[in-house]
Amino acid sequence: AQVEVELFEDQINHTINKNIYGHFAEHLGRCIYDGFYVGEDNTTIPHKNGVRLDVIEALRDLEIPVLRWPGGCFADTYHWKDGVGPKNKRPTIVNQWWGGVVEDNSFGTHDFLNMCEVLGAEPYLAANVGSGTVKELADWVQYVNHDGISPMAKWRKENGRDKPWNVKYWGVGNEMWGCGGNMTPEYYANLYKQYATFMVDWSNSAGLYRIASGASDNDYHWTEIMMRDIPKHLIEAIALHSYAVIDWNDKGSATAFNESQYFTTMERALNMETLVTKHSAIMDKYDPEKEIALFVDEWGGWYNVEEGTNPGFLYQQNTMRDAMIAGTTLNIFNNHADRVKMANLAQTINVLQAVLLTKEEKLVLTPTYHVMNMYKVHQDAKLIPVSLNNNTSYEMGGKSLPAVSVSASLNDKGEVHISLVNIHVTKSVKVDLLLTDLKAKSITGQILSSDHLQDHNTFDNPSKISQVSFSSFKKRKEKLEVSIPQASVIVLKIK
Ligand code: AHR
Repeated sequence: AQVEVELFEDQINHTINKNIYGHFAEHLGRCIYDGFYVGEDNTTIPHKNGVRLDVIEALRDLEIPVLRWPGGCFADTYHWKDGVGPKNKRPTIVNQWWGGVVEDNSFGTHDFLNMCEVLGAEPYLAANVGSGTVKELADWVQYVNHDGISPMAKWRKENGRDKPWNVKYWGVGNEMWGCGGNMTPEYYANLYKQYATFMVDWSNSAGLYRIASGASDNDYHWTEIMMRDIPKHLIEAIALHSYAVIDWNDKGSATAFNESQYFTTMERALNMETLVTKHSAIMDKYDPEKEIALFVDEWGGWYNVEEGTNPGFLYQQNTMRDAMIAGTTLNIFNNHADRVKMANLAQTINVLQAVLLTKEEKLVLTPTYHVMNMYKVHQDAKLIPVSLNNNTSYEMGGKSLPAVSVSASLNDKGEVHISLVNIHVTKSVKVDLLLTDLKAKSITGQILSSDHLQDHNTFDNPSKISQVSFSSFKKRKEKLEVSIPQASVIVLKIK
């Protein structure tokens, strides 16, 4: 039977939080140093206060809503006070998780928060619980958010910033079950309460989001304990981490296509549906009003690449198969807009599933960049619930994956956007979209596709892959027949 997608335009209840399209930048490889930040004295790469102008332009075009920093595992080693004040007086830090690199702390709190202002993105600061102190975090909140006369506000002003930045999003540690301190959930929940108690909402306006470090993948027990032990007045969100990794011991290749590894990668990416559903169900039990949000603040494809991890730790070539991961995962987040209020792709530039890659003065927009660019129309739009029937299967080795994924939204201009992904390597799929009232509507589309899943943009051919207009659809009275080519991402606009 024909694949059918039904759109329930009369059952709109939730808004797709724009922060689902968020990003993450860690002191790791060439993400910050020699990535965003090339140094204030750089004379070969155009920059403003050390931050690359081409990167700023690309991220502004993407309308990135939120950016998480400084880690990751790095966060629980980072002492923010070492990264403010005159740059030539700042102590160094050894990046113990990522190659033992010695960093000069020249990119610190002011640099990050000012950069977020230029990008028009909300900053999300991840604080040090593993090797920090309650006072250190309380001081950080006061330093960036206090508007009156206080020790930290005074210091901020001396360092050149008069007005507070009013940072809303605060991570209370990162991966506390692992690099954050190898804690049990019970121990961390206690510690969390202590830290959260001393985080004061100085701004008295937008409110603070205190974000508990959450589970890895399917550690449902972790979520259960966070929800059980942390009282509601101390927590606004829990962060889940899940990567589409083939196997931690299986070395993959980002550029040579291996279908079995692709299949496993997509299996992992699609598993996000199960993870979000199950973690949300636990949260529902303790919080049926859905006041505590689920943030998936690290997600993306992670290939244990054989080729070229150095220089640039965790540098991996982003290809069309990353576009498949991005398209399906973002559809999952959209469809869970009731509980998932933020997600952060790991990581923005030169690390893991990056949207940007740089080499000296050159910059490349990756296929993942183009997916996020096509999907940005969903930001802050109303979710239209969908049901997908008779899906085509993508099969391998006795296993089967749903080939097509979909999500849809309605914006305040009355436009409907439908994003569709077909992960099948060889089969194009015909889909009937069932909508009401199509007669007088105009329909346009964009598609991202390529002949091979290993195809990617290179520094010498940066425009090989980018979205083009799409018109393989036929309008009937109350349905739209769409033909989705293999391995492609499509966004349709109906108005
Ligand atoms: O994104 C890379 C690392 O992955 C982060 O530092 C850590 O939080 C996760 O394990």
